[in-house]
Amino acid sequence: MHLSSLLLSALPLTLASPTPGGGKGPEKYDKGLNFYAKQAGLKYFGAATDTPGFRERAPYPQSYKQYDQIMWKSGEFGQTTPTNGQKWLFTEPQQGVFNYTEGNVVSSLARKHGKYLRCHALVWHSQLAPWVEAKQDWTKQQLRDIIVSHVTKVAGAWKGQCYAWDVVNEALNEDGTYRESLFYKILGEEYITLAFKTAAKVDPFAKLYYNDYNLEWPSAKTAGAQRIVRLLQKNRIRIDGVGLQAHLIAEDHPTLDQHIDAIQGFAKLGVEVALTELDIRLQTPANATNLALQKEAYKNAVGACVQVKGCIGVTIWDFYDPFSWVPDVFPGEGAPLLWAEDFSKKPAYYGVIEALTNKTTPAKPGKPGFWPW
Ligand code: XIL
Repeated sequence: MHLSSLLLSALPLTLASPTPGGGKGPEKYDKGLNFYAKQAGLKYFGAATDTPGFRERAPYPQSYKQYDQIMWKSGEFGQTTPTNGQKWLFTEPQQGVFNYTEGNVVSSLARKHGKYLRCHALVWHSQLAPWVEAKQDWTKQQLRDIIVSHVTKVAGAWKGQCYAWDVVNEALNEDGTYRESLFYKILGEEYITLAFKTAAKVDPFAKLYYNDYNLEWPSAKTAGAQRIVRLLQKNRIRIDGVGLQAHLIAEDHPTLDQHIDAIQGFAKLGVEVALTELDIRLQTPANATNLALQKEAYKNAVGACVQVKGCIGVTIWDFYDPFSWVPDVFPGEGAPLLWAEDFSKKPAYYGVIEALTNKTTPAKPGKPGFWPW
């Protein structure tokens, strides 16, 4: 069965439920997600996007046109992140050879259309250029030089354009210990302090973030991420934010309170928080039951960000199901985003609207965070 007919059968359920804020139904809320996010006190509601070369699974020839209209010209998104183009693999494919072409496609569109840009990601064990890992016995000094050179060049290339940089991505194991990446094996946690120290020097205006997944409810891993924040603060190295990637699962998702606790755990340290890669996958095919769970899961995640002082914005990891990374990586799972294959808005879209509109008074001041020294 085509997803749109499934959606049609799911929609009456959605429309019949009372809409928070007293509206008659979701059609009342037609100004776009970013509009309601700002009204709720967030800086933005955004969507990551990729360069057209990566979008090979587009089902219809007209997809790009409709896609670009929603991505850039509607009021849905006030922010974007390049899904791939700023990663090491693309930006320094060979040692000392830098290439910003892929990343520039998205950053120039962001500038043209007046969107905040989150930049992603400087130091990460994955999608790393093969030359870095081809040699496992770099000396400490060689690897320090490699990190400093990479961060200096790449953060320098986008200097002044990034609202935030994900400086270090996914440094932790699930139990909160450090992942045994090449960087960690050779330098220990010094690779983290070095990356942040260098980024702070290069771009004084970009907010510097630590970014990871499975930080959406309190756990040993959230404690590990808090340890990273404190490590930097103790060393007087700037860290401004923690990014909760929020790659979640519809059938087993955090409650609103769990999300709130996790976000507060970071906000208490004086850093801001953002949901940076939100998507909520389900066991395919989509049906009325799993789409309803997905809606609830989106509502909890976005609702928590709205409610906690210090959570400044939400980015979904693309917005259009056929362009999601999920089916490639999680067999049997998919449809994690807000727009279905035929560009209809899924129930989850209205879950986000409900989360963004059920507060009339913004709970947060403009600029969260403080320096502990
Ligand atoms: C994913 C992209 O969406 C895919 O296109 C790519 O093939 C692999 O990476 N955590 C991150 C993101 O920080 O960069 C990842 O993005 C998803 C998981």
